[in-house]
Amino acid sequence: MAAPSFFLLAVVTCVGLAGAARIQRVVPESSSRVDGRGRSRNNRNCSSWHFVVETNGAGHWATVPQRCVGYVKQYMTGKSYESDSAAVASEALEFARSVNMTGDGKDAWVFDIDDTLVSCLPYYAEHGYGSEVFNETTFDEWVDEGVAPALPETKKLYYELHSLGFQIFLITGRSESQRNLTASTLRRAGYSSWKKLVLRGTEDKGKLAIIYKSKKRLEIEKEGYRIHGSAGDQWSDLLGNATATRSFKLPNPMYFIA
Ligand SMILES: *[C@@H]1O[C@H](CO)[C@@H](O)[C@H](O)[C@H]1NC(C)=O
Ligand SMILES: *[C@@H]1O[C@H](CO)[C@@H](O)[C@H](O)[C@H]1NC(C)=O
Ligand SMILES: *[C@@H]1O[C@H](CO)[C@@H](O)[C@H](O)[C@H]1NC(C)=O
Ligand SMILES: *[C@@H]1O[C@H](CO)[C@@H](O)[C@H](O)[C@H]1NC(C)=O
Repeated sequence: MAAPSFFLLAVVTCVGLAGAARIQRVVPESSSRVDGRGRSRNNRNCSSWHFVVETNGAGHWATVPQRCVGYVKQYMTGKSYESDSAAVASEALEFARSVNMTGDGKDAWVFDIDDTLVSCLPYYAEHGYGSEVFNETTFDEWVDEGVAPALPETKKLYYELHSLGFQIFLITGRSESQRNLTASTLRRAGYSSWKKLVLRGTEDKGKLAIIYKSKKRLEIEKEGYRIHGSAGDQWSDLLGNATATRSFKLPNPMYFIA
């Protein structure tokens, strides 16, 4: 189907923090594509927009479309987010229970942190649920408060995996300078007993999350660990090299990190 010409306004933002390197590509509302039946992207049902986002079909999207802010708010604050997260966690646990643990202490699981173990929803609720262009300064200030609450479904999974004998690795886009803050935020949210907390060092600054996280998983494998499972709210937490046997994508309709 021939699409009418449209232009892309590419905005590239490198964020040093939890946001990591966010590549944002802003497609102006007026220039969206129209499909064969005359429906434009803008008219897409927000539930269907969300589906495309979660299945990694939306490319590098920058902000939640204005028309879907109400949908995202409802999704995140109503029962759906919790229910979908519980479904993902339940599949992850079922898989984890099927893993033949070797007992050599090398069976590993990888978790992302932000919007995986702890929630950034309190911040995004104050910033249009992802409809505002990402502001590194205000986000960093919020992260520094160390108040991100636990996500209950992943927290339950975390402790189930721990009691099954998995070594838990945390790989976050946050920077090394936030190590202590991050560890105390996690403890305050009720997490403990991780094997290793991996943050971006100076050599990782500006790297795409998918590249940085692949490299860190590779290092874990080189230490002899078998990464059976991985959980994260971004595909860049999960795809790339040294991927886990099974990857578990948690919902996040609020932002995209490449
Ligand atoms: C959008 O799609 C969902 C899921 O199919 C449906 O429940 C909902 O009614 C639709 N909303 C609109 C406005 O069409
Ligand atoms: C664990 O071992 C059993 C029996 O050998 C096998 O059927 C099963 O597929 C294995 N599980 C995984 C996740 O490899
Ligand atoms: C983190 O805390 C340890 C002691 O608990 C301290 O030695 C270290 O300097 C701190 N690191 C940062 C980046 O603040
Ligand atoms: C995966 O490894 C290949 C070969 O080393 C490299 O070219 C590629 O950039 C890596 N991909 C990621 C996402 O790290």
